[in-house]
Amino acid sequence: MSARDLYSGGVAVITGAGAGIGAGLARHASSLGMTVVLADIDAGAADALAGELNAAGGHAVPAVCDVRDPDSVAALAERVYADVGPVRLLVNNAGVEQFGYLWDTPVANWNRVVDVNVSGVFHGIRAFLPKMIEAGHPSWVWNLSSIGGVAVVPLQAPYIMSKHAVLALTECLALEVAHAGHDHIHVQAVLPGAVVSNIFESAGGVDGDGSDVEAAESQRLAMLDIKAEAMDPVTAAQVVFDQAAEGRFYLLTQPDYVGAAMTERANVLASQRAPILRTARRFDPATQ
Ligand SMILES: NC(=O)c1ccc[n+]([C@@H]2O[C@H](COP(=O)([O-])OP(=O)(O)OC[C@H]3O[C@@H](n4cnc5c(N)ncnc54)[C@H](O)[C@@H]3O)[C@@H](O)[C@H]2O)c1
Repeated sequence: MSARDLYSGGVAVITGAGAGIGAGLARHASSLGMTVVLADIDAGAADALAGELNAAGGHAVPAVCDVRDPDSVAALAERVYADVGPVRLLVNNAGVEQFGYLWDTPVANWNRVVDVNVSGVFHGIRAFLPKMIEAGHPSWVWNLSSIGGVAVVPLQAPYIMSKHAVLALTECLALEVAHAGHDHIHVQAVLPGAVVSNIFESAGGVDGDGSDVEAAESQRLAMLDIKAEAMDPVTAAQVVFDQAAEGRFYLLTQPDYVGAAMTERANVLASQRAPILRTARRFDPATQ
C-alpha cells in the first residue's frame, strides 16, 4: 500500500514540528492529506507552520507542548482526542544536541538531553499509546533515533547515548506491542542521517570555567560543515513515509550511509573490537 493510501485522512501528531525534520514530516503528512497536530515548545514556530499548511489547503493544528513535562504531553493527548480525532500517526521527534567532553558537560545540559530526547519519547508513548490501543484502528508510532543511535563519536556522548536509548526503547516497545497482542499498532524507529535543521545551532555546549570550550566548538563546527551536504527535510520525510508504508522497522533517510553505519556497528559488536577514534579535528579561532 502507498503512504497516501495508509495515511490520508488520518491525524498525525508530531512533536518538535516547528523546525527541521519535524516540520518536514508535517509538510509531507499534510501533502498526503493528513490532519497534522504541530506540537512544539516554540509557539511561534508551530503557529507559523500551521498558517502555511492551512493557507495551502491543509488541516494543521498548532499546539504548545513541552515533551519534558509528562503533564504537558498528557494534556496534548487529551486535547487531540477531544478536539481533533483519533491518532493514526504519533511521531516522537523533538530532540536536542550537546557538544563537549562528557566530564565538562554541565549537569543542566545533560538533563536537557535526557529529558527531551529520552523522557520526551517515553512521555509521548505513555500519553498516546493507551488511547491508540483502545481505539483499535491501525496506527503508527515513530520514534526519532539517529545514525547516532548506531555509531559512537567523541564530544557528543549525551546525544549519542540518548539516541542509542531511543533505539533500544523503540525495539523493546515493538516487542511489547506484539507481546500484548496489539496487532493494529505499528512501531518504527526513524534513523536520519544529516538532514537540514536547527539542531546544531540550538545545541548545548560547555561553560568557560576550565572546560575545553575549544573541543566542544570544534565538534559543533564539524557538524555544521556537514549541513552543506544535508538532505532537505521534506525529501527526508517522503523517504521515511514510503519506507514506513513498506512495513520496514528501521526507517533510514539515507539508506546508503545510515545502513553502512548499522553494518559497522554490528561488526564492531560481533568482533568485540574497542571503539576506534577516527576524527581529531581542532577548533581554529582564526577561521571564525
Ligand atoms: N537534523 C539531523 O541531521 C538529525 C539527524 C539524526 C537525528 N535527528 C533527530 O531528529 C529530531 C529532530 O531534530 P532536528 O534536527 O529537526 O532539530 P531542530 O532543532 O531543527 O528541531 C527541533 C524542534 O524541537 C523543538 N523542541 C525542542 N525542545 C522541545 C521540547 N522540550 N518540547 C517540544 N518541542 C521541543 C524545537 O523548538 C524545534 O522546533 C531529533 O530527535 C534529532 O535528534 C536529526
